[in-house]
Amino acid sequence: MTTVRRFLGLETSCDETAAAVFTEEPRILSSVVASQHQVHAPFGGVVPELAARAHIRNLLPVIRRALEESNTKLEDLSAIAVHNRPGLVGALVVGVSAAKMLSSMLKIPLLGVSHLEGHVYACQLAAGKNIFPCVALIVSGGHTQLMLAHAANRLEVLGRTKDDAAGEALDKAAALMGLGFPGGPAIEREAKAGNAKKYMLPRPLLHDGLDFSFSGLKTALLYTWRDLKRDAGDVAALNARPDLAASLEAAVADVLTTKAMRALHQTGLKTLAVCGGVACNTRLRLQLQAACHKAGVELQIPPPSLCTDNAAMAAVSLEQWRNGEFAPADLDALPY
Ligand code: KG4
Ligand code: ZN
Repeated sequence: MTTVRRFLGLETSCDETAAAVFTEEPRILSSVVASQHQVHAPFGGVVPELAARAHIRNLLPVIRRALEESNTKLEDLSAIAVHNRPGLVGALVVGVSAAKMLSSMLKIPLLGVSHLEGHVYACQLAAGKNIFPCVALIVSGGHTQLMLAHAANRLEVLGRTKDDAAGEALDKAAALMGLGFPGGPAIEREAKAGNAKKYMLPRPLLHDGLDFSFSGLKTALLYTWRDLKRDAGDVAALNARPDLAASLEAAVADVLTTKAMRALHQTGLKTLAVCGGVACNTRLRLQLQAACHKAGVELQIPPPSLCTDNAAMAAVSLEQWRNGEFAPADLDALPY
């Protein structure tokens, strides 16, 4: 009888503490995520020091649950995989330290993997088939990048944001309009009752290359919101908020869709993989679906639970495992 190898993946790069157990096939046996949204909500954004402290509190219970839910004992594990880059260093250190300790205690290999490669790999996991080569659009709170993905762990940057990430702009805009944190889901909820054509917000760099810029959009929203309050009063501004949220969502979705389609056109590739928290957004998903359908491109977007940060995506480490590319005992946490 052959035993199925089991792996533990850990994710602590930003504000989700996550652990997952997966097999070599790969099959995800458990995936547990403890969100820190309540910790950061009063500040309207992730506070690095608080994120690290919350990981320290949450990591062991999250690991325990991931093991229990998959009926796995520590001794059943064949390796520990941890996202060691990029991210908030203080937050990453918590996961990396735990992974090193487990690997040393259990005398099993340590695998250090990139969070971004993990996000792209989540598209392959969800598709259940090979999706490479493809164009990958990573849109999260920390990143907005277009990649030529030869494989999940062979990414070539085609374009990236020059300033804010798309999710960061949504988070800041939501805080400004008193919509709470995380901003993306709050904007999406507010936008449901809104008219996306009401405010013509800028679409920065829309006609120009594959790089992004979202800080100008955020500033435009700030001025529109400020002028609304000044000219029409607080109540009228609140009444206009759904239209403003919808207009903002539409501007972000237009830019992301246009650039992704341009990257597909330039590379001649016929598959688009979209990942990261912002890929949960329904307006963006529908817009990408329509554009890909028109262009004869296959679209791969994971379900929301695999778009936002999780540890199942650490299964991207399986190739390193197969190649014997184990991390050294002094594996570092890297911000980039
Ligand atoms: O991938 P992720 O969980 O963490 C990072 O690696 O940054 O992405 C988090 C980002 C946040 O900015 C959040 O506001 C955004 O994803 N987000 C959304 C939605 N859900 C999460 N943005 C737009 N619409 C959503 N439904
Ligand atoms: Zn992420």
